[in-house]
Amino acid sequence: MKILGLSAHYHDSAAALLVDGVPVCAVQQERLSRRKGDPAFPLEAVEWCLEHGGIEPQSLDAVVFYEKPLLKFERILTCALRAFPRSWRSFPRAMRNSLGEKLWIKGIIASQLGVSAKKILFTEHHHSHAAASFFTAPSKEAAILTADGVGEWATLTVGRGSRRDGVCELKLLREIRFPHSLGMLYSTFTAFLGFPVNEGEYKVMGLASYGKPTFERAVRKMLQKESGGGFRLDLRYFEYHTTAERAHSSLMIDELGPPRDPQDPIDLESAEGRRFADIAASVQRVLEDALVDLARQLQQETGCDDLCLGGGVALNGCANARMLAESGFRRIFVPPAPGDAGCALGAALWADRLWFKQPDRDCPDHPFWGPPLDASELARLAGEDGIPHRHFADERTYLSRVAEELAHDRIVGWMDGRSEFGPRALGNRSILAAPHSAAMRNRLNQRVKYREEFRPFAPAVPIERADTYFELPAGGARLARFMSGVFKVRPQWRERLAAVTHIDGTARVQAVAREMAPRLHALLEAYGERSGIPVLLNTSFNLAGEPIVNRAVEGYSAFRRSGIDVLAAGGYLLYKRSAVAPARELESVA
Ligand SMILES: [Fe+2]
Repeated sequence: MKILGLSAHYHDSAAALLVDGVPVCAVQQERLSRRKGDPAFPLEAVEWCLEHGGIEPQSLDAVVFYEKPLLKFERILTCALRAFPRSWRSFPRAMRNSLGEKLWIKGIIASQLGVSAKKILFTEHHHSHAAASFFTAPSKEAAILTADGVGEWATLTVGRGSRRDGVCELKLLREIRFPHSLGMLYSTFTAFLGFPVNEGEYKVMGLASYGKPTFERAVRKMLQKESGGGFRLDLRYFEYHTTAERAHSSLMIDELGPPRDPQDPIDLESAEGRRFADIAASVQRVLEDALVDLARQLQQETGCDDLCLGGGVALNGCANARMLAESGFRRIFVPPAPGDAGCALGAALWADRLWFKQPDRDCPDHPFWGPPLDASELARLAGEDGIPHRHFADERTYLSRVAEELAHDRIVGWMDGRSEFGPRALGNRSILAAPHSAAMRNRLNQRVKYREEFRPFAPAVPIERADTYFELPAGGARLARFMSGVFKVRPQWRERLAAVTHIDGTARVQAVAREMAPRLHALLEAYGERSGIPVLLNTSFNLAGEPIVNRAVEGYSAFRRSGIDVLAAGGYLLYKRSAVAPARELESVA
């Protein structure tokens, strides 16, 4: 059975292909269109999936869209009517922004792909999130918690799933509905702090470490707890449900002071900069407490050892680590793409397991579902441009040479195999560097990533060695598999891991399993042999405002346009002229 899953028309459009119950490929539209967060109908992503899978559109058994447009329409209409007449001006815009082509999605899919309308299915948005998490996790029985801004109506669901004797079940037991939403709460603060919603949430979490939760009481007034771990927002503090103009109300300004102008840099030495950091710390604390309460309640209710998290809120690594430590669950699974892009895969899995009732299948436990790399393209490009380059046929020599470059404080653009599905570079499209000095962090921020100083870089470490450097609780290594948890760096290593240790002594660790990313694992070991510490700084291979690189030519372009010293891909090493050691002999492969 061949099933194509789609997410589109909100942000992070994506396509995923499932053949006989197992993912074959999944890719976000932005990686192919090169428009960050591309919300368009993911035609390029679909074309690549079908081509890679060797499938004609007509032979698909189903195309599954990741949410139900009519339910979403109902929500927008209902909210507009409730808020009338305040909403009369914003309603047409909300329609355009949130729905646009979505309402006509069946016709669009049928005409764009040339498939019969009968084959087009729709899942509920949070079913897609839940399926993306549970059906890709190596767990036979788990509680499920999904949380995001909003889908159709639901903004948070709890449920449970089981995969026993080849039969799959997934039930969502309760939901919290729009406008009450943890994701919208966090997004409102993201906008209030002057960051772009849907991509600035990381910045709020990074900034939070610099502040103290001095506004915690104020934020708690906005998010009121209910029995059973639930919550309600006090809507007097918010306007996102009535207008597209702004998310917060003037009452929020009364509590927190004026919002930050996005044009103003954040100066953490100033009182104003500290106020913003304190606001970030306060909303982060309240979000974490709410999630811990929900998870604890769910654990007691289900008695499960495992929790599967889905939805954009699951990208909050600090909250995930606290849920692991405090909720009673032994293991927490976050898929590599818990956000809306991952819903393309989730929708396909939901249809396969629950609509068509196909037998249970284990999904391969890795994120590498994207396009493969053709590294030989690099030799051609480097030859044409006169860039020094070498090819190493022997893997060990290649990896030890890359390790040597890293040990010489060179910033390495690293490409390998198929690209990651999801927002994090987990070893196939990464920028790697020595993790030891704060100077390296500053160099990367200023010469490569062009981003704010308060955003931390993450470390990658072989899973067997993770415990030496990081305080991973039981179950922590699993959370760290896809960089989904923030943990403490052991105090004795903080100084020697300064580039990846955040201001509060934590790091968003990636614990690299050999079977998942063998070449990155071997590189970490080679670096460890050379430097004594098998840890590397791993950040996504993209420049500011651009999607993560996908093909070799995009890696090459980013390498040429930034302070990356060396590009390493599939046995090839390309050097900036400034990075060529005088004694090194270079051979042309052209
Ligand atoms: Fe979502």
